[in-house]
Amino acid sequence: MEPFKTKVVERIRLPPPAEREEALRRAGYNLFNLTSDEVYIDLLTDSGTSAMSDRQWSGLMVGDETYAGSRNFARFDGVVRGLTGFPHVVPTHQGRAAENLLFSEFVRPGSIVPNNMHFDTTRSHVLRNGGTALNLAVASAYRLDDPDPFKGNMDLPRLRAVLAGPEAARVPLVMLTLTNNTGGGQPVSLANVREVADVCRAARIPFYLDMCRWAENAYFVREREPGQSGKSIREIGRAVFDLADGATMSAKKDGLVNIGGFVATRDERLAERFREQLIVFEGFPTYGGLARRDLEAMAIGLEEATELEYLAHRVGQVRYLAALLDAAGVPFMKPTGGHGIYLDVHRFLPHLVADDLPGQALAIEIYREGAVRTVEIGSIMFGDGAAPAQAGLELVRLAIPRRVYSASHLAFVAATVIAVWHRRASVRGFTMTYAPEHLRHFTARFAPK
Ligand code: F0G
Repeated sequence: MEPFKTKVVERIRLPPPAEREEALRRAGYNLFNLTSDEVYIDLLTDSGTSAMSDRQWSGLMVGDETYAGSRNFARFDGVVRGLTGFPHVVPTHQGRAAENLLFSEFVRPGSIVPNNMHFDTTRSHVLRNGGTALNLAVASAYRLDDPDPFKGNMDLPRLRAVLAGPEAARVPLVMLTLTNNTGGGQPVSLANVREVADVCRAARIPFYLDMCRWAENAYFVREREPGQSGKSIREIGRAVFDLADGATMSAKKDGLVNIGGFVATRDERLAERFREQLIVFEGFPTYGGLARRDLEAMAIGLEEATELEYLAHRVGQVRYLAALLDAAGVPFMKPTGGHGIYLDVHRFLPHLVADDLPGQALAIEIYREGAVRTVEIGSIMFGDGAAPAQAGLELVRLAIPRRVYSASHLAFVAATVIAVWHRRASVRGFTMTYAPEHLRHFTARFAPK
């Protein structure tokens, strides 16, 4: 049951089928081009789509909109340092701005950056600085039915091989993404973080976390890892952060805000360089491209995201939707992760080949059926040939926004997906009619075959 009640509502409307069809045509069959009025239930992303609490909204009213030295920055800085233990915190407007600061410092032409799996923006920042984004998740990450409780883990033998091999000198840092969004929102165990940290320390290579969904990751650690069940989310988080040199954060996820992020580090000189860059690209270091009231909302949201009742409900929503889909035989990645359902496109649409862009075809069909917006995470998002694609994972993600939808909304989503499942043989492929060079899923256009 929701550990909250509703205070403000926003009307939603199911557009009739003809309107959906017209919207798809106008959007070039790219769901990023739909307007919110054309969408009934929006599962495009869990990023920046959370409902803020009454405490966060009231926090906005105590925004101290001073250019330099705002008291909201002091509050935010104290909360992040308190949660993570990282002494230097640089606010940014969102996660990718933090990635820009980090990767601009570390990555040079020829660099190799290992990660369990890079998210699209992370990978793009590595590539645009001339590096190679190397995905080193464990093999179970690629087996959609493998019951491994920590499918987000880094493959340690492969990481050790890279760091002991001839290319070790080209590795400027190692990243680990909590949870592994690209691989299904799967968690990383504390033991795995510790081993990655040990390997990095032995090789004298900095170790950074992509901590967007760190609280959800800690929830799984608490639930599944021996010896962790009595610990709080904050304690588990702190045990993880203590092992790293720093982190990038999109607070649009486990910060429960609509905008905000940061990069944090133990390295004082590096933090100074981040701040110099920040002033050019984002703003003064006590606001980092945000209104100061946003820093206040972020400070409150970062703490609310560590509450056990909240996390139990959040992960419970994913499991509820999973149970409805499972009962109808719909194929998706199991066990489910922290922030959504990842449909197994190859098993959903076995009659389509790679050239038919099956993930996109399925996302479009789900929209057509019930105006539910999802996103392809597969060959379009990652298949631009610039780096190894993600070993054939073809997924459609139903990302659940935090504190936004009720169980009946999720039941509608399940009914929509199940209706498409029942007529799956009729789903046709798509071709790409326009493809930009980078991050092509955002602006590509498609046409039905
Ligand atoms: N890292 C991970 C693991 C992410 O999932 C995201 C964003 C980012 C970094 C970048 O953060 O959007 O604040 O710049 N993921 C969103 C998603 C967009 O839909 O999964 P950002």
